[in-house]
Amino acid sequence: MAMNPTLQIRDAMELDVDPIRDIYNHYVLTSTCTFDIEPRPPEPPEVWLSQHPASYPAIVACDGDKVVGWATLSPHRTRCAYQNTVESSVYIHRDQHRRGIGRQLMKDLVQRAATLGHHTILAGIADHQQASLRLHEALGFTSVGCLREVGYKFGRWIDVDWMQLLFWRES
Ligand SMILES: CC(C)(COP(=O)(O)OP(=O)(O)OC[C@H]1O[C@@H](n2cnc3c(N)ncnc32)[C@H](O)[C@@H]1OP(=O)(O)O)[C@@H](O)C(=O)NCCC(=O)NCCS
Repeated sequence: MAMNPTLQIRDAMELDVDPIRDIYNHYVLTSTCTFDIEPRPPEPPEVWLSQHPASYPAIVACDGDKVVGWATLSPHRTRCAYQNTVESSVYIHRDQHRRGIGRQLMKDLVQRAATLGHHTILAGIADHQQASLRLHEALGFTSVGCLREVGYKFGRWIDVDWMQLLFWRES
């Protein structure tokens, strides 16, 4: 797909935190792609951004002034030996699907993860969501297993597929 020439990918800033939350809360209320059940309340932007220091970036896709999607890296687990393993998240505004925005955000995020020296990225994809599974496959992630019925939302049990991208580096 041709890149949208007006789309800009950049680091998230304080003014992006409200639109980021709005994009996300739509899926909290309507989708099994996130296991949050209650919408996230407003919080001071600096608090949200503080969870994404330089090694765990938060980025946004903007079309003009409008934030149309966002993506983050987060630690996978806190124990020390997991320090080179990160998890990715990506959410596109509900009116902006299938325009290449998720791909552009994830390509940028993967590049940043490699540059930052992370060894591997994990993506937990709930409920066998095809859009997300296909997007991650297109970026080189491979399936590494399925956790059965680890979530319960909208009155049913939900599986989580894990996909992984491993950066091979000479040691
Ligand atoms: C998953 C999601 C991020 C995809 O973003 P998007 O901007 O719509 O995707 P893109 O237009 O960049 O598509 C990139 C590729 O992903 C795949 N894809 C995207 N949407 C798809 C769909 N509905 N069905 C099948 N494949 C799809 C395709 O391989 C596509 O490439 P193609 O258009 O050349 O066929 C978006 O649907 C979304 O925000 N979903 C809700 C949140 C979510 O599930 N996030 C992931 C969990 S962290």
